[in-house]
Amino acid sequence: MSRLAELFPAALRGALVELRRDLHRHPELSGKEERTAAALEVALARVEPARLERVAGTGVVARIRGRDSSRAPVAVRGDIDALPISEETGLPFASEHPGVMHACGHDVHATWAVGAAHLLTACPAAGDVLIVLQPAEETGRGAQAVLDSRALDGVAAIFGAHVDRRFAVGQVVAQEGPLAASADSFEIRLLGSGGHGARPHEAADPIVGAAALVGALQTIVSRRVNPAAPAVVSIGSVHAGSAPNVLPDRATLTGTLRATDADTRRLLGDEVRRIAESSAAVYRLRAEVSIELGPPPLVNPPEPAGWARRAAAAVLGDAAIVPLGFLNMAGEDFASYLERIPGCFLRVGAREPGGDPIPAHSSRFYPAEESIFVGAAVLAEAARVASEEL
Ligand code: NI
Repeated sequence: MSRLAELFPAALRGALVELRRDLHRHPELSGKEERTAAALEVALARVEPARLERVAGTGVVARIRGRDSSRAPVAVRGDIDALPISEETGLPFASEHPGVMHACGHDVHATWAVGAAHLLTACPAAGDVLIVLQPAEETGRGAQAVLDSRALDGVAAIFGAHVDRRFAVGQVVAQEGPLAASADSFEIRLLGSGGHGARPHEAADPIVGAAALVGALQTIVSRRVNPAAPAVVSIGSVHAGSAPNVLPDRATLTGTLRATDADTRRLLGDEVRRIAESSAAVYRLRAEVSIELGPPPLVNPPEPAGWARRAAAAVLGDAAIVPLGFLNMAGEDFASYLERIPGCFLRVGAREPGGDPIPAHSSRFYPAEESIFVGAAVLAEAARVASEEL
């Protein structure tokens, strides 16, 4: 990792570490990243970008000049929001906001995007590069909001990455194919008619219907989806009733659907609807089903993945590039950009020597500080490679 030492002189290194720790101390939830956005604006103003603007509420976009600004720009995205979790890392710069925590490493993602802005200012790409600090990744809505703001119109390629403690600092996953799943949610309302618990024949009991439906929905993955295609149907909540001797009118179930290809994604939604409606009828109930689409599956196309791989190899050497191994079925709203713009999403190793592979969204999760520099250097270089190739 000797190139990293050259790229980040002590003053820049110190400024980025300080920025990351400041963001970590002051985490903010999706869509409420006011202080975070203000801090990032100040940090980006230091590189004197060609343009610096707020987008999508608490998003920030800086345009870094390339050698030829008439070329189509490329983009580097870092997400900036935190989670409603109480931090238990014991870090000296732990969250000062009770119940809110950077448990997904977006403090580091925001910081490495600022780091990339510095590197691309010092050594410009062929064309301009937009540094995109995106709010509300955790709700799956921020990327679409940035696209809707039209700030990325005309962007020819986009790159982003996520910290990952399954991999050591210095290791990078940069490959084509699926990297994250779609993340859709559903709500099923089973409508019956309530009554006395002692006289169930007078009622249409939605609780018995809900219990049967929970089991029936498990057959979607086990009996309907091709076993070679990854898929998840999870029920996350079941609510009904208020007293031991009262049969309620209704039961409500909510859950999440995950898939890595469009056909499987569609099948999951269709089957939830079909099974809920027909299972309800068996119990003399009516089902109302709503499905809320979240981010689509994240699938890296081959050419931009090749650019990202070349960039990672240039910064870290070929040995740094490692395979993803098992796909993580979590969602990532970077997928919304990839529906419109070619690009690549990477995983950046964030486990310090001797550390544990703590999962993201754990109250003990933190990325190793050194991952800031890996992410910044690899994303800046990916932007340069893409800008040359386009
Ligand atoms: Ni995340």
